[in-house]
Amino acid sequence: MMRKLIVGLFIAILPALGLAAGASVPLDTMEPDHTNKASLQRGAALFTNYCMGCHSMEYARYKRVSDDLGIPAELYEENLIFTGAKIGELMKNSMSKEMAASWFGAPPPDLTLESRLRGEDWIYSYLRGFYKDESRPLGVNNVVFENVGMPHVLTGLQGLCAVEPRIGEGASVDPLSGDVRNADICPEWETEGSMEPEEFNRAMYDLTNFMSYMGDPVKVERERLGMFVLIFVAIFFIFAYLLNREYWKDVH
Ligand code: HEC
Repeated sequence: MMRKLIVGLFIAILPALGLAAGASVPLDTMEPDHTNKASLQRGAALFTNYCMGCHSMEYARYKRVSDDLGIPAELYEENLIFTGAKIGELMKNSMSKEMAASWFGAPPPDLTLESRLRGEDWIYSYLRGFYKDESRPLGVNNVVFENVGMPHVLTGLQGLCAVEPRIGEGASVDPLSGDVRNADICPEWETEGSMEPEEFNRAMYDLTNFMSYMGDPVKVERERLGMFVLIFVAIFFIFAYLLNREYWKDVH
């Protein structure tokens, strides 16, 4: 009986173990913050300018994003919609999936729920993980997504790393010399970008933060409501307790 129970329990947690084994490459971590509207706004601007040409977010509407991020509708329409769409429309783009597939080997997927699919750490690492690889059709590869079909669209900002960048190693201080090791994820640049490595990391934090928000736009509201529910339960408990005492007062 006991043994069956143990075996049963083990089988029940197997899927969880499989999930944990999913991330085989080491990743850098990032902590999303959906209350940081300035960061989300910068992320939205980056996404519109550098990603939406290829990737849609067609399960969301511009209006929702402009409301949540506190960007006035006219400003949003003027600066963050390039397809001529109205603010109430879905965030589609006009690239044909078939043609894109023949250009890149794979069509650029819709990214509305990408943060749910891959997780924030994966996206943050992927965006910083491109490097030069002449054996690939577009001359670049990615340490997080091997043989990826996407070009390194942020070369102008980040630059192009000549060797595999050190994703998932983190910065550390050498105990003897006090030097910081791996402060810069790329040991050798093929071309330099317009941003300093630190600056680029912050920009990719904002972009990932925005994609995280898109995958779960009600997170802030849910947590706010959750707090009220807990406060309600706590206050309700006091009255329930007093009432209970009143009922049982004369029973001995
Ligand atoms: C020139 C077109 C193009 C642009 C611009 C572009 N991508 Fe991509 N992206 C692709 C293609 C094609 C793929 C599919 C690659 C594959 O499956 O091999 C892809 C894949 C991805 C994936 C991985 C999807 C998965 O499989 O889970 C992410 C994340 C991503 N892109 C994010 C971005 C972000 C963020 C930007 C803006 C900075 C961006 N992309 C700009 C073409 C593009």
